Amino acid sequence: MEAGELELLIPAGEIERGVRELGSRLTKIYRGKQVVVIPLLKGGFMFASDLIRCMDLDLQIEFLGAASYGEQTRSSGEVRLTLDTTMPLKDRDVLLVEDIVDTGLTLAYIQKLIRSREPASLRTVVLLDKTARRKVDVEVDEAVFDIPDRFVFGYGLDSPGGFHRNLSDIVTIRE
Ligand code: IMP
Repeated sequence: MEAGELELLIPAGEIERGVRELGSRLTKIYRGKQVVVIPLLKGGFMFASDLIRCMDLDLQIEFLGAASYGEQTRSSGEVRLTLDTTMPLKDRDVLLVEDIVDTGLTLAYIQKLIRSREPASLRTVVLLDKTARRKVDVEVDEAVFDIPDRFVFGYGLDSPGGFHRNLSDIVTIRE
């Protein structure tokens, strides 16, 4: 993909500011508690790694991986677990960290899985929210940015071919 085909949607500086503010809010919310932070892979890894450095708390990290079958830029809604946690989540305060909520099907599936393990609490934060495309009423406690119905990538997110995850900005393909 040529650089000219990309349109800048959210520059790195804005992402950094949004993530820092979310980190401070979470620090206040969880003060005095030990949190298990679960980045949802693959897309949530960069957001989560920046976010936890803005959280001044005792926290542990576990990972969940999900993939959905489908075309390159549209998920089918059929979710597949690709990686599971290794520690018990029962009675723990769990923070699920996801890159983007689109139809909501992936999050709904993952939240159901986590709830079946009886955590003391479950909070979900996402970097991006494409509200226009929601198909299921899924609980999102905080979304850093609301975005239009465009396929976006960069900052760890999936992209056509899986490249461009290393971009610091969030971009889209020029229409
Ligand atoms: P869902 O439709 O909410 O289930 O989203 C499915 C998955 O597709 C999410 O976990 C994201 O990782 C990914 N996804 C949805 N929209 C985009 C996008 O615009 N760019 C990159 N990944 C996306």
